[in-house]
Amino acid sequence: MMAKVHVLDHPLIQHKLAILRDKTTGVKEFREAVGEIAGLMCYEATRNLPTEEVEIETPLMMAKCRVLSGKKLAIVPILRAGLGMVDAMVDLIPSAKIGHIGLYRDPDTHLPVEYYCKLPDDVGKRQVFVVDPMLATGGSAVAAIDFLKGHGCRQIIMMNIIGCPEGVKAVQEAHPDVEIYLAALDEGLNEHAYILPGLGDAGDRIFGTK
Ligand code: PRP
Ligand code: URA
Repeated sequence: MMAKVHVLDHPLIQHKLAILRDKTTGVKEFREAVGEIAGLMCYEATRNLPTEEVEIETPLMMAKCRVLSGKKLAIVPILRAGLGMVDAMVDLIPSAKIGHIGLYRDPDTHLPVEYYCKLPDDVGKRQVFVVDPMLATGGSAVAAIDFLKGHGCRQIIMMNIIGCPEGVKAVQEAHPDVEIYLAALDEGLNEHAYILPGLGDAGDRIFGTK
């Protein structure tokens, strides 16, 4: 069975996504909107995390409350563009550990090339959120998830701001256990494997490199 794809059509997410898509949006506003969307998506993607009951003493009496239980979390951005989503997630999950996977797409083959990896020692025991604004061919996502599984990870959630059918299919075929959270499922890819209508090159727009 294929894992679910969740497209988060919340009005706040959609409004901020329009800012990202707009070619006149500058680096500062783009970066801010990426972070804001990541925070809103994180809120939905963490909806099913396990909780446990605890007793807390309020100023008036004892109260039964729920707190996060079980596995600790890890956030793994795919470099570079995934870095733009990390701070907003850490604001919500301050105890999360952070791993980094560096991949870039070869401009001719569009295949991912790995150049860096550093993961928490105990990443295999954690619920992992892989973050990257774009899910295009899916090559980078599949390679990152392959790598994490090679390090023992069994609970992986993929969070992308914009995806397309080709990327979703690639992840679902290679990793049917991984749920995908998107803010938008776009039409498809152009001949350079850019998402249409998309937002252009996420890394360049976050870091101002073009
Ligand atoms: C972009 C994006 C994803 C990848 C998606 O990164 O951030 O990592 O492309 O494409 P795919 O689904 O076809 O693999 P890029 O390779 O441009 O590197 P960057 O983040 O360093 O700009
Ligand atoms: N990477 C990007 O940054 N944008 C795309 O549309 C596809 C891959």
